[in-house]
Amino acid sequence: MRELPLDDLPKHSPWPARLLGCDDWEEQPGYGGIGVSTYDEVYGKLRSLVRENPEMGFRELQRSANHYAEESPVAISRSESLYLVDVDEKQELQDEALVASLAGTLDGGETVVSLGCGWGYELGVLAESYTDCEFLGGDPTENGVALGRDLFGDRDRITVEAFDFRDDWWDLLEGVLADADPDEVVLFTQGSLTALPSVRDIVVETLADYADRVRAGVHLEHVYELHPEDTLLGHLRRGYADLREYNDDMLASLRVADGIDVTSATYDVIGGNPLHPLSEVRWKPA
Ligand SMILES: C[S@@+](CC[C@H](N)C(=O)[O-])C[C@H]1O[C@@H](n2cnc3c(N)ncnc32)[C@H](O)[C@@H]1O
Repeated sequence: MRELPLDDLPKHSPWPARLLGCDDWEEQPGYGGIGVSTYDEVYGKLRSLVRENPEMGFRELQRSANHYAEESPVAISRSESLYLVDVDEKQELQDEALVASLAGTLDGGETVVSLGCGWGYELGVLAESYTDCEFLGGDPTENGVALGRDLFGDRDRITVEAFDFRDDWWDLLEGVLADADPDEVVLFTQGSLTALPSVRDIVVETLADYADRVRAGVHLEHVYELHPEDTLLGHLRRGYADLREYNDDMLASLRVADGIDVTSATYDVIGGNPLHPLSEVRWKPA
């Protein structure tokens, strides 16, 4: 891992030139406009890969997808510093941030409900680190749920089900809460609230309704409101999020939601894309 000066970021990312209009890149529909079907298509391809290679485990699948998407070295960020790392090291750092996000919240016996878990890679990583907790993931993609079941169907601590943030109530969570002590349920998201163009209604109207029935919420998400307004990197990150139509209201929504008490917000714990880093937000029932 070696430090990458911001000035050299354009050598490793097309985005600074695009954002500054120095590239004749044709604007694609923003992330906010991509929708569930694009994820479903990607997960469908991964599902075919697993069908062709039935011995492939979840880590190998992720590694294969990573190497297909990028070539080493790749730019990442941590705490507003940029680095160059190889593709596998990037995944290790992302896994470390994932596991660390739940440290101090889990002490054994809890059920972690991961909302928007994709095909469940994060469930596999967490289950290996927190060996006496259970992991329930939900995603709206048919292929994501099916692939998660193909990969984790034989593990009794990991379950994957259909779930959509936009539903008025969340059957996935109702099911867990019906049987569990509220103190034993932890809500988690990684990069999935980002997939929505605005999260205000979902956080204030739906998530908040469940807040007093769980121990805590932990989010590893792209948090627009934390991007500094007085640094070049902060401006590039804001420009990136604006261009790709990522939401800009996650932290503000959690802070105004009844029944939710945001206890920490840590900026840029890992940026697999250095212009779009994950921040860690934790909350407790108020
Ligand atoms: C960037 S991926 C993150 C997946 C996984 N959490 C991870 O970190 O690898 C975003 C995920 O959000 C999910 N998503 C998109 N819209 C959603 C919605 N309305 N409700 C729940 N999940 C959604 C997508 O299907 C996708 O799996």
